[in-house]
Amino acid sequence: MTACVPLPGLHQDRPAPDAVIACADNLSFMASLPTASMALIVTSPPYNIGKAYERRSSLDDYLDHQSLVIAECIRLLRPGGSLCWQVGNHVEDGAIVPLDTLLYPIFRRHGLTLRNRIVWHFEHGLHCSRRLSGRYETISWYTSGEDYTFNLDPIRVPQKYPQKKHFKGPNLGQPSGHPLGKNPGDVWILPNVKSNHVEKTVHPCQFPVELVERLVLALTVAGEAVFDPYMGVGSSLIAAVRHGRFGYGCDIVPDYVAIARARLAALRDGTLRTRPMDRPVWDPALPNGGHR
Ligand SMILES: C[S@@+](CC[C@H](N)C(=O)[O-])C[C@H]1O[C@@H](n2cnc3c(N)ncnc32)[C@H](O)[C@@H]1O
Repeated sequence: MTACVPLPGLHQDRPAPDAVIACADNLSFMASLPTASMALIVTSPPYNIGKAYERRSSLDDYLDHQSLVIAECIRLLRPGGSLCWQVGNHVEDGAIVPLDTLLYPIFRRHGLTLRNRIVWHFEHGLHCSRRLSGRYETISWYTSGEDYTFNLDPIRVPQKYPQKKHFKGPNLGQPSGHPLGKNPGDVWILPNVKSNHVEKTVHPCQFPVELVERLVLALTVAGEAVFDPYMGVGSSLIAAVRHGRFGYGCDIVPDYVAIARARLAALRDGTLRTRPMDRPVWDPALPNGGHR
């Protein structure tokens, strides 16, 4: 595995910071970062649907700008690194345009390999009257090269039938499932951050921290650098720092950057509340929704 190029701001005579945050446009911030310095780039760009933080443009202009940002991200990615681009649909005159399919050729042109198209299913969102309400988005996980990091054990989930045993062969009677749990698969059912979610801030569409935690744990090792070029309120950096990685991020909205800084400070002093990775999704049919 190729070693990361040292990042700016890390000096031998004092401890490295755990996060570097900038209130800046991502192209200018990325220009200050060294080539091949990031183990994981994980982000959710604007979808060009007219949210408060974006100016709606033509789809062609949007894709041209995404191409520039993606090219610069790929410059920052170390060989064997991972890039996770989380998107939903662009919507125009009632027609949906799945952004991951439009962005796929851009990543392929840069030689990246798509390893999984993770479907993130959630229960809350707009209620549509002329089509089915949208209840999933996707995370396209790409890698640079074949020798990539993938640690399954830290993200295993409980077996559905933990008592299941081999019914024949040399392991007859032994448990048939992996003792640490099963592969979580490529459909992730995680609550999105709406009004009742413990992580809710003023940001209209933040990542649940647990979603990024899975990616950080599976795709990096401790001490590596994780970057979010559309950082918002810093959810990716929180996931990175919580697990001993270094977090880098930028956003153009000063209020979001201030919240990201405050959330990281709360993480460091142990007061940040996030939804635990192992909490089951609320089930109204069970006592206390199935929560312990
Ligand atoms: C979908 S949100 C990401 C939210 C983030 N995942 C979180 O958990 O808070 C997209 C973010 O991109 C930011 N943004 C838009 N254009 C940007 C640019 N050129 N450079 C940096 N950030 C930008 C917006 O302000 C917004 O916070």
